[in-house]
Amino acid sequence: MRIGIVGATGAVGRQMITCLEERKIDVEELRLFASSRSAGKKISYLNQEITIQEVVEGCFDGLDYVLGAVSNALSKEYRPMIEKAGAVYIDNSSAFRMEEDVPLVVPQINGEDALRHHGTIANPNCSTIITLMALAPICRLSKIKSINACTYQAVSGAGMHGIEELENQCEAIRNHEEVEVHTFPSQIAYNVIADIGSMLENGYTTEEMKMQNEGRKILHLPELKVTCTCVRVPVYRSHSISATVVCENHISIAEAEKAIDAFEGDVLYKGVPTPLLTTDQDLVYVGRIREDLTNENGLVIWCCGDQIRKGAASNAVEIMEYLMKHECVTILEYKGEKIMSRKSILAFSAIALAAASALAAYTLKKSKKAQENEDDDEIHFIKIEDGDVDEKKVNPSFEEKSDEVKEVASVYPYLDLDFIEKILNKNDEFNSSYEEDSLVTVMHHVRFAIAEERKAFEEIMGLSGYETTTQDDKVVATRKFFTQPGAIISDILNVANQTNALQGVYEKYDIR
Ligand SMILES: NC(=O)c1ccc[n+]([C@@H]2O[C@H](COP(=O)([O-])OP(=O)(O)OC[C@H]3O[C@@H](n4cnc5c(N)ncnc54)[C@H](OP(=O)(O)O)[C@@H]3O)[C@@H](O)[C@H]2O)c1
Repeated sequence: MRIGIVGATGAVGRQMITCLEERKIDVEELRLFASSRSAGKKISYLNQEITIQEVVEGCFDGLDYVLGAVSNALSKEYRPMIEKAGAVYIDNSSAFRMEEDVPLVVPQINGEDALRHHGTIANPNCSTIITLMALAPICRLSKIKSINACTYQAVSGAGMHGIEELENQCEAIRNHEEVEVHTFPSQIAYNVIADIGSMLENGYTTEEMKMQNEGRKILHLPELKVTCTCVRVPVYRSHSISATVVCENHISIAEAEKAIDAFEGDVLYKGVPTPLLTTDQDLVYVGRIREDLTNENGLVIWCCGDQIRKGAASNAVEIMEYLMKHECVTILEYKGEKIMSRKSILAFSAIALAAASALAAYTLKKSKKAQENEDDDEIHFIKIEDGDVDEKKVNPSFEEKSDEVKEVASVYPYLDLDFIEKILNKNDEFNSSYEEDSLVTVMHHVRFAIAEERKAFEEIMGLSGYETTTQDDKVVATRKFFTQPGAIISDILNVANQTNALQGVYEKYDIR
């Protein structure tokens, strides 16, 4: 995988580099970006020294994933460049979290939402991630109606400047010097500040409203009500949250504890979780589970989690790992420009398996015929009928698209709608002539957990004229072809489409 990190010198960016090392992610190339102040400096990654680059036009080209750890304004500036390069952008800022076509993902809670991205995926707010990690197991027992939370947020939540400010203020107080305030609204050393983000008309801060707005999206609970008070405390790292959750049904303490204990990413802690206990690791510690004395369907919990890791860097890396495991990428390259289609690997595997069964059925029939010395007449392949696929499910924004796009999508339901749109826009170019420069390269990158599926896929793609290379559990199938004069769009889609594997088998055996 070719991975980029923007904001690589910051609190979150540095942690991302460590996460890649710790998780032994298969990194073919790592590109690190920061401001012009850091450009040229080096950061070590495994046994290499990587030079930090400034963000310039074309710097994201060739990357598969870009992890973002910069401000909202910079993230807005860089997103179009990253998407244009065809990389998936996993962003830690709050710039796009509430946009409809940007999934907001905590992999343990709603990982499958990540597969519906259109190039950008957002990492939720750090306090929201830690609170929801603690409450999601309870939500699976009974729908959550409301949450009343109070956060105790570490200074590193404000980045490297937050850490420096606490250090400098403590030092100044020890030396009986004047305390300087730059990053927080008032002195944070030996103090607490119930003012994070900017104040809104309803009396809440932007940080406080994130728990409700983002919680609704992540838990798929549009009616969820959250009251929240966010407090900055003089703790270096790891946020703590006290939360009262009210469910539709009564959940006993024992039931809640059992669910939390079984939830991936949580630790049911018998003592009292603290920021120091939970610093520099990825698990969310949940403890002090009590009955709410004001509501019989309420429970009170206390949880702590490292907000730079699970609240930001590790969660982003986990999203990337989720995509690597569950996504198949088709790249159509035309005159150096890449058009990408990303689809769930489950859908793809279903096609590859259907194709494999078709081939097996055909081979069997062939050999029987050979034995019986019969002529080839009727050979039936398993076909994937249009009716087998719910287009709205595969392509959630189906209804909003033009009739032309819908028409093509109904024939090629596993193709991304944006991918179809882009190809349709290029139709005239593709149709122009049979020239050297109309060479189109199609590549399918697929990961297979099951060896039989991989073998079937390689066989099918081989028959379709693709060259396949295998790398651990990943197969890259590549085919170059020339567009034909007067070719209709479906010819191109045929090659681009995963079902092309089936078409290849039909052609090879001259099946109509
Ligand atoms: N800290 C947390 O706990 C946390 C948790 C969740 C989400 N987040 C979010 O994650 C993002 C990063 O936060 P952070 O805490 O890591 O901030 P930070 O420590 O202040 O780091 C900011 C990063 O942005 C880089 N940068 C500044 N100007 C740039 C430019 N023009 N082009 C490219 N890079 C530039 C900085 O590089 P230089 O070193 O060269 O200046 C640095 O690497 C923010 O959106 C934040 O809200 C943070």
